[in-house]
Amino acid sequence: MEIDEQKRFQKPPQSYWMDSTPQPEYPPLDRDIQVDIAIIGGGITGISTAYFLNQHGVKAAILEADRILQGTTGHTTAKITSQHGLIYSKIKEQMSQEMAQQYADANQAAIQMINAIARENHIECDYVPQSAYDYTLLDKYMDKISQEVSVASSLGIKATYLEEIPLPFSVKAAVRFDEQAQFHPRKFLLPLVQKIAENGCQIYEQSRIVNIEKNNRYTLQTNHGNKVTAEKLIIASHYPCYNKSGLYFTKIYLERSYVAAIRAKEQYPGGMYITAEEPGRSLRSQTSDHGELILVGGEHHKTGQGEDTIKHYEALMDFANEHFTVEDIPYRWSAQDCMTLDDIPYVGQFTSKTPNMYIATGYGKWGMTNSIASAMILRDLIIKRFSPWQDVYNPSRQATAASAKTFIIENLNVAKELIGGKIFSLPQDIDIQFGEGKVIEANGERAGAYRDEEGTLHVVNTTCTHMGCELNWNSAEKSWDCPCHGSRFTYLGDIIDGPAVKPLTLDGDVNPIEKLVKNDF
Ligand code: FES
Repeated sequence: MEIDEQKRFQKPPQSYWMDSTPQPEYPPLDRDIQVDIAIIGGGITGISTAYFLNQHGVKAAILEADRILQGTTGHTTAKITSQHGLIYSKIKEQMSQEMAQQYADANQAAIQMINAIARENHIECDYVPQSAYDYTLLDKYMDKISQEVSVASSLGIKATYLEEIPLPFSVKAAVRFDEQAQFHPRKFLLPLVQKIAENGCQIYEQSRIVNIEKNNRYTLQTNHGNKVTAEKLIIASHYPCYNKSGLYFTKIYLERSYVAAIRAKEQYPGGMYITAEEPGRSLRSQTSDHGELILVGGEHHKTGQGEDTIKHYEALMDFANEHFTVEDIPYRWSAQDCMTLDDIPYVGQFTSKTPNMYIATGYGKWGMTNSIASAMILRDLIIKRFSPWQDVYNPSRQATAASAKTFIIENLNVAKELIGGKIFSLPQDIDIQFGEGKVIEANGERAGAYRDEEGTLHVVNTTCTHMGCELNWNSAEKSWDCPCHGSRFTYLGDIIDGPAVKPLTLDGDVNPIEKLVKNDF
């Protein structure tokens, strides 16, 4: 990688979607309220579910822990596609043709729905029809690609087998889905936010739900102590913020992935691409005030287990330099994705014993269509008590042989991190440079230290407030990340991503920074 690129990676990441759109502000909840439906989470799922319910006269309240549309929704690659890797042959083999059909129908309907909403509401969201390609450089994937073409075609998807693709390198094989699209997710969603707010939907930001009680209704408590009482509850908070039932923490794991938005000398040939094999590589383009951007994505790894995370951006740039003459990297960002055991989201009733409580999570890396499909499923379950796609997305569906194996692997991994994180050796070199974070020992305990650009040292307890795993430093995003269930914290200890609902502390309410910073590091 060029030295100039290394310097660029010292700057904080910035998503193009975030930088090119305004951020509306909504107040925190400052009183107790009663509503018909409470929606936890102001990402694409929460906003689009509120939009669909609003069309049926239902007014919901959205409770967002941070700011709306800033999480994974603001850090996606924003491909509107039903091509989710080689998913259809997998669903058919492990579940059935009928389940594969439901998944295909849901995601094809989501593509059409996004287009219809944009047209009906005159939303300028850089919507561009595109083909989606899944390609392989390896002989052993050629049969899998061929099989995917066959299964997808049997489900009514326009899928074609190819031996060449428009990108400037040769491939062994590829599957192309036609009638797919790309867009700017925040340009699409911000007008919907305005519309639902004008139609009576209440939106509260910086209102983290820290407790949920079930009596004859649901009572939610925010971090400021205010209460929301609701007949129905939708948890669309990315990772579910309720762990008293459902055992979701045993069947979801978190991954991070990366995007470098480059400007290149060559014109991009069109299309949206992803590799069938590892290392995962994703490509699409985007018009911008900086000219044409090429979004180079990939490099996924489990949250908190990525070692030196800057290396993931560097690997993407190596790939970009191999295939394009890179002139600039105006943007780079990363995303957090909830993965399920069988790669199919959990959407529907939270558990069979929690009537009127719904969940939508686990989109893998395919959140644009899966979120809109989820919003349609939730709307139908609430309004009609039935969705034609409810079985394949059912959160209580039976495990397949493959998902049972993944369950064991992922939960052993959590156990290993939980125990292994407690055993650490004090690094010999505790010199901490400007902009550097390290695990250290402070007052006999494992602690995390970060020295900011002004030279101030910030020390936090690295024990995750969710279930006690030990956090690791994320050098690319300058955050403390949990290797067990993916909670992330700033270097000051504030929550970036749940499931944790409490910031980092040393013990009780003691501020770890006050307790640990002693000028003796
Ligand atoms: Fe569960 Fe950290 S997120 S222990």
